[in-house]
Amino acid sequence: MRTTIVAVDPASPEPAAIERAAEVIRAGGLVAFPTETVYGLGANALHAEAAARIYEAKGRPAANPIIVHVTDTDSARQIVAVWPEEAERLAERFWPGPLTLVLPRRDSVPDLVTAGGPTVGVRAPAHPVAQALIKAAGVPIAAPSANRSTGISPTRAEHVLKELHDRIELVLDGGPTPGGLESTVLDLSSKPPRILRPGPVSPAEIEAAIGPVALGGESAGRAPLRSPGMMPRHYAPCVPLELALGGGESRVRFLVAEGARVGWLTLGDWAEIPGAVRIVMPTDPGGYGARLYAALHALEEHGVERIVVDLPPDSQDWLAVRDRLRRASAGM
Ligand code: TXA
Ligand code: MG
Repeated sequence: MRTTIVAVDPASPEPAAIERAAEVIRAGGLVAFPTETVYGLGANALHAEAAARIYEAKGRPAANPIIVHVTDTDSARQIVAVWPEEAERLAERFWPGPLTLVLPRRDSVPDLVTAGGPTVGVRAPAHPVAQALIKAAGVPIAAPSANRSTGISPTRAEHVLKELHDRIELVLDGGPTPGGLESTVLDLSSKPPRILRPGPVSPAEIEAAIGPVALGGESAGRAPLRSPGMMPRHYAPCVPLELALGGGESRVRFLVAEGARVGWLTLGDWAEIPGAVRIVMPTDPGGYGARLYAALHALEEHGVERIVVDLPPDSQDWLAVRDRLRRASAGM
């Protein structure tokens, strides 16, 4: 299969481009498209065979549920069995936007999308291209991040093509995504609600809207790995990545002296080290999150053998960034 690349204006997508992609979705095909977080790999969420193709293209274990993307609250209610007060308040405050709500599903959602579970993850993305595509397709769109399983999430169309070229029908190229880290996943089917994956919407913002929430999936008598995004190596680059507390300078010097080709993500403007590829990262969590995956993709393309990352501070505002870095370094 040849992948068609269709350029699209991210702010006001051309109707012809959107219609072409919507037709692919309606016909049971796969379309990669930008959201405000990362590029998604979309298929008709109500069509089991279309959803099956997502797993095939990604090489993803069928035990991982897929987020269903909708335009708004009304369309979310078509696929969930209950719509609690908390969901209403959160949607009012954060939709369209980077918050995924896990709720009991309706029977119309195929088992493949929920990985056979009783819940479905649903979110209304804010990106104009994603909104236009879902509207034009006329169906909810199931979409995980548009990378091969366990790879780095794509924040540009080129990242999508690097891994999925000729495995999908079409890519809507809307340029770099404005965010860069995947949505916050909040399980509203458990009491208290539980953040399964930290993301752009912080625990404090969620608690301000609905009261106390639990954090992480591993605690207190709960089956681990409820959200596959919690699998340690879920966001790992192909090269070993290590986190350096207090800055990676001496570690990078050591590895370079050993003859390794090293990539270094610095937090702040450290001096360059000859023999290492240095990327200076923004010192604010939002800017850092927006750059992170693109920086890791760039280091992979440089052909580095090791990646050292200056570990950001252990504070609430760095929660999502540190979560992704921890997963990327798991197995080290
Ligand atoms: O920002 C995002 O969320 C991006 C864009 C494309 O929307 N999507 C994304 O999808 O990151 P994916 O498949 O790479 O990650 C989905 C996360 C996984 O951790 C998955 O387990 C969790 O959401 N999830 C989805 N449905 C779930 C469910 N029913 N129960 C628990 N976790 C669920
Ligand atoms: Mg993913």
